[in-house]
Amino acid sequence: MIDSHGRTITYLRLSVTDRCNLRCAYCMPLRMRFAPRPDLLTLDELERLAARFVAHGIRKLRLTGGEPLVRPGIIDLVADLARHIETGALDELTLTTNGTLLADHAEALARHGVRRVNVSLDTLDPGRFTALTRGGTIAPVLAGIEAARAAGLAVKLNAVALRDTLDEAVDLAAFAHARGAAITFIEVMPLGDVDAERLDQHVPMPELRQRLETAFALTDTTLRTGGPARYVRTATGGMIGFITPLTANFCASCNRVRVTATGTLHPCLGNAHATDLRTLLRDGSAEDLDRAIARAIGAKPRAHDFRIAPGETRGLDRHMSVTGG
Ligand code: GTP
Ligand code: 5AD
Ligand code: SF4
Repeated sequence: MIDSHGRTITYLRLSVTDRCNLRCAYCMPLRMRFAPRPDLLTLDELERLAARFVAHGIRKLRLTGGEPLVRPGIIDLVADLARHIETGALDELTLTTNGTLLADHAEALARHGVRRVNVSLDTLDPGRFTALTRGGTIAPVLAGIEAARAAGLAVKLNAVALRDTLDEAVDLAAFAHARGAAITFIEVMPLGDVDAERLDQHVPMPELRQRLETAFALTDTTLRTGGPARYVRTATGGMIGFITPLTANFCASCNRVRVTATGTLHPCLGNAHATDLRTLLRDGSAEDLDRAIARAIGAKPRAHDFRIAPGETRGLDRHMSVTGG
């Protein structure tokens, strides 16, 4: 599928739930409102929808949330989707998770054809973790990372670049590299109301990179993993990725679309464009569904319009946990 800006879309981020067992301060308000359960796609609907996207040329499928591992039946879904790997239609089936339930599922994920997982970890400090996630504990996440490695899954860490944890950037990178993992730092995006001021959280990536430069000698690389990160290598061979929607726009090379847990297709994370696929999935024909997908992707917006600046912050009402990042 090629959009009207000449970009080939090969990557689907499919949210399997908008729920999460954490409440990260930059992601959700403490009193987050979730979608009514009947609005969520069933496992069968998720599977049927994914199959249509694969038929449209999607080669990389990432399950997201909310937290994908809180979705009942998630391993059954992974097992069903893995058949697209077996037929060679899909190159990669993977997940982005907060890691809290990974120790329970790592082995099953690996058994069903998942090769790597991205685990969100913004701080190594137990007290800070509890404060940032508003009630979570870090130990299960650390155990989840170890369980994933033991199961043979490649692990990448994701850390949001935040003012309150900036002093940990070097330690987080060292922690990842000591475990053979890459780490990606992500600029915080103005998605949805949270109980904090975005400007107070935002760290421009050049500032974070500067901290890393003082600890590691960084060399730019051409590595791409299919996502938006640009990678550098440390002198010891560790990889560090930067996702910079605010300070270095990467929309020109965008290859992805996302579907929410309620079956809405968002061709861009940073735009309000939305196409309801659930109604077609429930009441329409396969042809109707295919046409709607093709039309929405054809009309994918050129770029997002995020901005975080004094008095000028521009974002969207939709939270990251709804679109799955
Ligand atoms: P790899 O497959 O390892 O390259 O991962 P990925 O970067 O594609 O997936 P991951 O879930 O780790 O994404 C990390 C974060 O990058 C997401 O949660 C989003 O915050 C951000 N991100 C991913 N795609 C986009 C995008 O198209 N636009 C913007 N603005 N941010 C994105
Ligand atoms: N801006 C940037 N990243 C965010 N995430 C959640 N909300 C935001 C936001 N507003 C991150 C999570 C996780 C990934 C799925 O998205 O920390 O790593
Ligand atoms: Fe949950 Fe991820 Fe949002 Fe944290 S960032 S509240 S772990 S969905």
